[in-house]
Amino acid sequence: MPSRSRLAAGTAPSPSDLDAEAGFARDVAEGLASHPRTLPCRYFYDARGSELFEEITRLPEYYPTVVETGILRACLPEFARSLGGGPAVLVEFGSGSSLKTELLLAAVPGIVRYIPIDVSASALAAAAARLAHRFPALDVRPVVGDFTQATAISLHAEGLARIGFFPGSTIGNFAPDEAIGLLSAFRTTLSPKGRLLIGADLKKDLSVLVPAYDDAAGVTAAFNLNLLARINRELGGNFDLTRFRHLIRYDEKKGRVEMHLESTCDQVVTVRGQSYRFRTGDTIHTENSHKFSIDEFRALGRKAGWQPRHVWTDERALFSVHDFVD
Ligand code: SAH
Ligand code: AVI
Repeated sequence: MPSRSRLAAGTAPSPSDLDAEAGFARDVAEGLASHPRTLPCRYFYDARGSELFEEITRLPEYYPTVVETGILRACLPEFARSLGGGPAVLVEFGSGSSLKTELLLAAVPGIVRYIPIDVSASALAAAAARLAHRFPALDVRPVVGDFTQATAISLHAEGLARIGFFPGSTIGNFAPDEAIGLLSAFRTTLSPKGRLLIGADLKKDLSVLVPAYDDAAGVTAAFNLNLLARINRELGGNFDLTRFRHLIRYDEKKGRVEMHLESTCDQVVTVRGQSYRFRTGDTIHTENSHKFSIDEFRALGRKAGWQPRHVWTDERALFSVHDFVD
């Protein structure tokens, strides 16, 4: 992703950087002009956003990372046995720091190639370098891009079994119809006879859920507000970050935690010459994080053409890891 600070003296922006910046500008203009106002959550993840996400994963309130990691440690030997041991390519959607991937690679010796896909160029580069060092025989081929765009993921993996990995409950950041479309597109990418190991966060008491998205140290607030800082940095916006606050809502009917940025006063913000008026209490909806029951998630997989096979969970039933087969 382009960032003005990365365009050092003497370095011309590449055409793809300019395309990405134009896409960001278009999505921000559309999102801020719509009612209700929204911004796509994939734009959280510039270099700073990825750092803040990693901080979130270490918070005591943010249970998904530690719990899913524990489930993976326990279930990976069984998953590896079920694969049969032949040579395979591993494709990870939204790989971030690839920390969970290390567990998978250590447990499944047949994986010869790893294709991590992420919009965050900085997170991807750091993770790819670390994994290439830790697994010298592994062919690591990072792809900077949007995993919802099928063109970004042609595998060139003839003769290799195809394993998809989609941990973190990133699938929960999509509305159900989008999630079905995405899982169906992943099935096509991974065909023939692909496998998908996918993490899904479970429905639970609000006393656990709400602090996970509104932590005491304010890291999630900083993560949310960084989206406005990114608009200022990359699109020359003039958001005053002290005049917006992080806001969480739980929509019981839709089974999702919503993140918003709420205007704390009447104000006008300008981005690329376009003005946007905010009244006190107006919000920009920045993220949905859907929570599932195990049956709901298996039904979602079936609607995308997958056959849900095994599911693993933790003792407190906070999180689930599903094995889907084509
Ligand atoms: N898989 C990691 C990271 C989850 S955070 C884990 O389980 O901890 C979500 C990751 O997906 C981030 O690294 C973010 O940059 C990436 N991401 C979000 N939307 C994306 C999209 N549309 N295309 C590609 N990557 C995306
Ligand atoms: C990446 N995604 C699944 C995270 C989530 O829990 O929805 C992003 C996040 N948002 C706030 N905290 C973490």
